[in-house]
Amino acid sequence: MRSVSDALGSTPTRTVLVTGAARRLGREISLAFARAGWDVLAHHRHSADAARALQAEIEALGRRCPLLRADLRAPEAAADLLHQARASSGALPQCIVNNASVFEADEALSASAAGLMDHFATNTVTPLLLANALAAAWAQRGAPTAGRCSVVHVLDQKVHNLNPDYFSYTVSKLALAQSVALQAQALAPWVRVCGLSPGLMYLSGPQTPDNFERASRVNLLHRPIDPADVARCAVFIAENPSLNGATLQADNGQHLVALDRDVMFAVDGAMGATP
Ligand SMILES: NC(=O)c1ccc[n+]([C@@H]2O[C@H](COP(=O)([O-])OP(=O)(O)OC[C@H]3O[C@@H](n4cnc5c(N)ncnc54)[C@H](OP(=O)(O)O)[C@@H]3O)[C@@H](O)[C@H]2O)c1
Repeated sequence: MRSVSDALGSTPTRTVLVTGAARRLGREISLAFARAGWDVLAHHRHSADAARALQAEIEALGRRCPLLRADLRAPEAAADLLHQARASSGALPQCIVNNASVFEADEALSASAAGLMDHFATNTVTPLLLANALAAAWAQRGAPTAGRCSVVHVLDQKVHNLNPDYFSYTVSKLALAQSVALQAQALAPWVRVCGLSPGLMYLSGPQTPDNFERASRVNLLHRPIDPADVARCAVFIAENPSLNGATLQADNGQHLVALDRDVMFAVDGAMGATP
């Protein structure tokens, strides 16, 4: 049996595929991997200019950064993306970070079939199929990966701290969170599967800057969560061969502050709670 570095030919370089890499957390994760010596396959959909800017920044660090493009709602997106990854880098990635997601406001009673399907396709189905495809590709190689190949499913503190807002988004992330252990079992020994649950990092949806400023402090440390800290957790998971089926919560303890509503609504209503 060939080792993982034999399977990569003479190139010992490690490569990570990051979905939704061009902006916000995806960009932080991509830069954290590049700084740690990884090449980055930067997936994006609409953010082509931001993806090119990321590419230039990563290349300035001395790492490669091919750009990949796909609509993750498509049933064939996972296979297509892994095909693009192999074609552009000539090798299989050692890690996939499923970071891209759709985050649309709805409630249980207003959720539509189209909205649920959209969230599930992007946030659950394609991430799971990407992990399966990576494990299948490494298994086909027959090279023992010795814990060096991994998938990081980016979750949300919401899955540990439920409230009924953003219903379709939350259900899609709950399904992904519950799949971490299942996939860790199913994809062993080829690929490790872990979760990474950030708390509120960026202004999203209908938030105003003032609302974000207050909401970002509703956690045990009363200070905003630094996305760079979250990004470093993804690198830590990828580089630690003993972590499997685990979820890291990088949220200043936000998941321990129970709220009746999403924090962006709670801080403007009577339901806000500060520990
Ligand atoms: N933002 C927060 O405060 C927060 C809090 C907790 C958890 N999270 C989680 O952390 C991760 C990153 O959050 P974020 O706020 O940085 O994400 P984001 O800006 O909302 O979305 C990241 C990227 O996902 C891509 N994307 C969305 N739908 C897609 C589709 N159908 N096909 C392909 N790409 C698609 C977009 O790429 P393009 O721009 O290229 O189209 C977008 O830039 C997500 O998994 C999110 O659930 C975020």
